[in-house]
Amino acid sequence: MMVNEIYELGDQPPIGSIPKMMHAQTIRQSRYGEPKNAIQSEIVPVPDIGPDEVLVYVMASSVNYNNVWAALGTPVDIVAQHQRVDPAVDYHIGGSDASGIVYAVGDNVAWPKVGDRVVVHSGWWDKNDPYIIDGGDPMCAPSARVWGYDVNWGAFAQYCRVQSHMCMPMAEHLSWAEAAVSTLDGATAYRMLLGWSPHTVREDDVVLVWGGAGGLGCYAIQIVKNMGGIPIAVVSSDDRGEYCTDLGAAGYINRKHYDHWGVMPDWRDENAYSAWLQGARDFGRAIWDILGERRSPRIVFEHPGEMTMPTSVFVCDTAGMVVICAGTTGYNAVSDLRYLWTRQKRIQGSHCANDEQAVSFNDMMIAGQIDPCVGEIFAFEDTAKAHQMMYEGVSPPGKMAILVNAS
Ligand SMILES: NC(=O)c1ccc[n+]([C@@H]2O[C@H](COP(=O)([O-])OP(=O)(O)OC[C@H]3O[C@@H](n4cnc5c(N)ncnc54)[C@H](OP(=O)(O)O)[C@@H]3O)[C@@H](O)[C@H]2O)c1
Repeated sequence: MMVNEIYELGDQPPIGSIPKMMHAQTIRQSRYGEPKNAIQSEIVPVPDIGPDEVLVYVMASSVNYNNVWAALGTPVDIVAQHQRVDPAVDYHIGGSDASGIVYAVGDNVAWPKVGDRVVVHSGWWDKNDPYIIDGGDPMCAPSARVWGYDVNWGAFAQYCRVQSHMCMPMAEHLSWAEAAVSTLDGATAYRMLLGWSPHTVREDDVVLVWGGAGGLGCYAIQIVKNMGGIPIAVVSSDDRGEYCTDLGAAGYINRKHYDHWGVMPDWRDENAYSAWLQGARDFGRAIWDILGERRSPRIVFEHPGEMTMPTSVFVCDTAGMVVICAGTTGYNAVSDLRYLWTRQKRIQGSHCANDEQAVSFNDMMIAGQIDPCVGEIFAFEDTAKAHQMMYEGVSPPGKMAILVNAS
């Protein structure tokens, strides 16, 4: 069969035929900076796959903050990181979510098969890692990486290269864009809320969800609701708050009504400290007002980091958990430790998801228990624009989808 050197977007080659070249949205070190300039269209070779890998013809992907970090070149120079594995590659292709069609599988791959419609989660690891062979959680293994960020050849290209265990069946009732948007944020939220026993969401648990209208938050609200918990969202506007209550939040707090954010003042500075404490107490009271009783969140779902962590630790219930997967606003998160030890709270880091957690979240998608929350759909050429919106904090509620080969 005659295979072209390259196909235009949406001009689908026969299943299983693989061209040499593809369209991709790349990031190069010379362009590190704001996403609008850093992310550009290029034609690059289609990657080869290894024996445990799968080549997916990408239909859609979505925007995640990790590709904003990749564009900025900080906190990690991601191209330099790729070059430690393959010195010849001098660009990064982001995209940690995908829906698409399997076009090739490696010799060791039993599932999926060429032609299958799949979605892809982004937990990547070496299956021969001794930590994993010993039964450890793969996402805690030394070899664990996030595909489309730490691992190259993500979904902002016509073909992406993934490990076979990352592929999951695609929910049949969803469009390509709807299927693509949730795999990173949804699985991450699932691990945060159900992966850290005994602090897993139970019936009637109050869960405070920062950024409830954002990518992680919209799935967190729905997961908590499905488990019988009581999600309370934090947002920056009433519109975004109403979006969260429509998803199942019991109520929302508009963070713009408070000003005690950021690294907390030194406890020796009595005036500054008592002003901070007043702000944190007022915020905690807003949770009680929503609930109609003096109950605090058993789980606080954190990711803004520096701006919010002192408040998260303060408002978390006695013997509760603050679970955190990011520090979008900064990494220097100080807390008043007296509230941590006397009330025996736990701070738990969490990162991406293992296969079991990603599959459990995908099962909820297949069962129609989770709305994919597509906020806006962008064309492939607008990948940079969509990331710039995320960088500037003007994303619509929910997730931004990118159509790759889908129209
Ligand atoms: N470790 C992992 O595996 C993992 C996985 C997925 C995502 N992440 C990280 O998690 C973070 C959030 O991801 P996302 O996809 O949810 O991003 P997103 O869609 O941009 O949502 C983040 C939300 O945070 C809120 N926010 C912004 N500034 C804030 C501030 N100063 N204080 C409190 N809230 C603020 C915004 O909501 P309002 O303006 O309405 O408050 C926004 O909707 C990113 O840093 C991302 O890289 C980590």
